[in-house]
Amino acid sequence: MSVCQKAHFGLRLTDIECCTGDSIRNPKSLALTPADACHNFHNLMTDRAHQLCTNPACKATYSIDEVRTSCSKCHALLDIAYDWDRLPVPKSMEFFEHRWSTKGAGGSGRLDFSGVWRFRELMPFFRHEDEIVTIGEGRTVLQQADLLARQMNMNPGRLLLQYEGLNPSGSFKDNGMTAAFTHARIVGANRVACASTGNTSASLAMYAGLNEMIGVVFIGTGKISFGKLSQALDYGALTLQISGDFDACLRRVKEIADDPKMGIYLMNSVNPFRLEGQKSIMFRILEARNWNPPDWVIVPGGNLGNCSAFGKAFMELKELGLIKKVPRLAVINASGANTLSELFSRQNLRWDNGNVDCSKIGKLYAAMDESNYYPHTVASAIEISRPVNLPKALRALDFMNGVVREVTDDEILEHRALVARYGFGCEPASAASVAGLRKLQEEGIVGRDDEVVCILTGHELKDPNATVMYHTGVDMKSVQDVAPRSTPTGKIANQPIQVDDDLQSIIKAMGSRG
Ligand code: F0G
Repeated sequence: MSVCQKAHFGLRLTDIECCTGDSIRNPKSLALTPADACHNFHNLMTDRAHQLCTNPACKATYSIDEVRTSCSKCHALLDIAYDWDRLPVPKSMEFFEHRWSTKGAGGSGRLDFSGVWRFRELMPFFRHEDEIVTIGEGRTVLQQADLLARQMNMNPGRLLLQYEGLNPSGSFKDNGMTAAFTHARIVGANRVACASTGNTSASLAMYAGLNEMIGVVFIGTGKISFGKLSQALDYGALTLQISGDFDACLRRVKEIADDPKMGIYLMNSVNPFRLEGQKSIMFRILEARNWNPPDWVIVPGGNLGNCSAFGKAFMELKELGLIKKVPRLAVINASGANTLSELFSRQNLRWDNGNVDCSKIGKLYAAMDESNYYPHTVASAIEISRPVNLPKALRALDFMNGVVREVTDDEILEHRALVARYGFGCEPASAASVAGLRKLQEEGIVGRDDEVVCILTGHELKDPNATVMYHTGVDMKSVQDVAPRSTPTGKIANQPIQVDDDLQSIIKAMGSRG
């Protein structure tokens, strides 16, 4: 059988083996036809992906089979890196289009159906397709929003909204969870945990429930919206309400996951596999635009995983020669949780080829401690003051010639209402992207004819309190606080557990499951 018959169609093959073990030692690109498709090439990928320290002065590598969230040599964040020369890479992005026609049927159909995994050649860390955990996430919409554009002083056709709220758990987090759960399955984990402002916990709980894994979520008491809390409970996660905020929850869950005795697989965005899945948001935007990058991608910034993933997506597409132009990135903080904005815009902190001036970060965090500062914003999803992906976000801003802005709660609420007014909708944090666009226009940085994609990260129904409060002035949240309480009697009721922000108490509470 010829190489062409065994290799993948439309894929660029350089020195890879085909599925029957034949070796192709021809570094030239091979453009093959769909009829020549071979569906087992993923078997070949075992040693072609690894974990790589993001610190260019360190560059330590670790196997894909290891579970880690930082480099053990220098403690920097990790990337998933690929030996692209030895992997089948599409010759062009059009390669992915044929997957729509499979309609989710057949062997690879469930992967083609997923808006994440139909781009699997661009995140090939798995060994075999069977390992992939998916429920058809990422089938989201890039909507041309001309009515909103008019309100935003943009020309028709220039403003596009990427509705990530259409994911199965209602937020963009599913893009990352499907990838992290795939890795969890590869390494045989069955107890997974995260800290969350709500959406990560909802998504984790959903995938854990679907895969018979034990999910544990750490949330700050009173800090997450009811829509998100209800999901974590309903999908059966052990829900620990810690007396602290997101930053405190993340510190605790990391401490626990770092202890091998606890057997916890960490699902926060320090997990580099999660960010692999989140790259697909950019692939779908390109797909919806016939593979033409927009001028701008605008995204809210919280723990800064999403913008970091976007940067990595474009770095890789550029390296692979799959795109010519890289869009500019705008990351929007809430002014009540503005660490990135403070460091990037006011203190001029930069990636600087990996030489991030950590003393600036240390000083800011020390000042926060000293003044007893806690972030506060109506956009509870991004109420985070110590974003763990900060260095990766700086790298993304560097590569995508990015800017950072912050918007007030009032601006967030007004723009949230404006988005909803013209159909679909989003939760408050998501609307920071549209409010940020307004700011950039007012400053003359974005023009009315620029092509702009705002990422709407979470569904409108995630936080109905914010919506009801905006339209009626009734604060349903405070009503809930004084609402009558009774012991739940449902046969599979899953009550949250209140825990002090104390390691031993948390470990004790976790003992109640698993
Ligand atoms: N928008 C929404 C709706 C979110 O839930 C989050 C993060 C963000 C934006 C910010 O994304 O962290 O990648 O910069 N939510 C996390 C959570 C922190 O726990 O659900 P990021």
